[in-house]
Amino acid sequence: MVIIRTIKRLRQVLSGYNRKGRTIGFVPTMGALHYGHLSLIKACRRENKIVVVSIFVNPTQFGPGEDLKKYPRTLKQDAALCKKEGVDIIFYPDAKEMFPSGYETFVTVEGLSRELCGLFRPGHFRGVATVVAKLFNIVQPDIAYFGQKDAQQAAIVRRMVRDLNMPVKIKVMPTVREIDGLAMSSRNAYLNPLERKDALVLSRSLALAKRLVHDGVKDIAEITGKIREMILRVPKVKIDYIAVVDQEHLMPLKKISGKSLIALAVWIGKTRLIDNIIIK
Ligand code: PAF
Repeated sequence: MVIIRTIKRLRQVLSGYNRKGRTIGFVPTMGALHYGHLSLIKACRRENKIVVVSIFVNPTQFGPGEDLKKYPRTLKQDAALCKKEGVDIIFYPDAKEMFPSGYETFVTVEGLSRELCGLFRPGHFRGVATVVAKLFNIVQPDIAYFGQKDAQQAAIVRRMVRDLNMPVKIKVMPTVREIDGLAMSSRNAYLNPLERKDALVLSRSLALAKRLVHDGVKDIAEITGKIREMILRVPKVKIDYIAVVDQEHLMPLKKISGKSLIALAVWIGKTRLIDNIIIK
């Protein structure tokens, strides 16, 4: 495994591979790797000859006052995990390599970026789409892997790839959860022990929603009302949104039908967590 810091060197190394019949799989990350990332890396390893993981805490997807400075940076640990999983290349650029001074080109997936988290994190998905587009241009992967936990990000990347005719296949892998149900996230590291317990309300309220649908409840207001009630029983929480939308367009549904995405964003103390389930 090699760790490469520059675009030029990465291109040299990738062009040295004989790509005939050999696919490049790519897992873009911001580091602080957990089992969620590892499930993407494992799938990537199984399905490709060459595995590239990027680790880049992308400043353009953090808003003012968000956690860019304190976002966990754990390269040593991340590199050890990647090595164990059989990663071939870690691409680890710094901010100047990706966004040199004078940089001014951005990619915006218009409508999808304004929904759900987009309402509360203006500019976030512009930053995500831009860096992912750049990384796709740099790595030129055949397949790229994303997690279902970031459902809106996955929908936006799929749309960007379709709209801009990017020659890459997007695979979205299921959310990986802790044994008690908490969706894995690098931001879970911010939670103190009490908040860690409180954070279970996200997965528990989604499980409640699933039971309600299973029992025949189709009315969205009733389902979101029950979720809200459960979450608000936890002290010091703030709900950004509880939404029931279709998975591709992220448009609010009137009734549960076909495949519906139930998505939440909730503050536990100073930490904003998201989670979702797909109801079939
Ligand atoms: O999901 C993430 O970690 C980031 O949003 C991504 C896709 C690596 C872009 O910075």
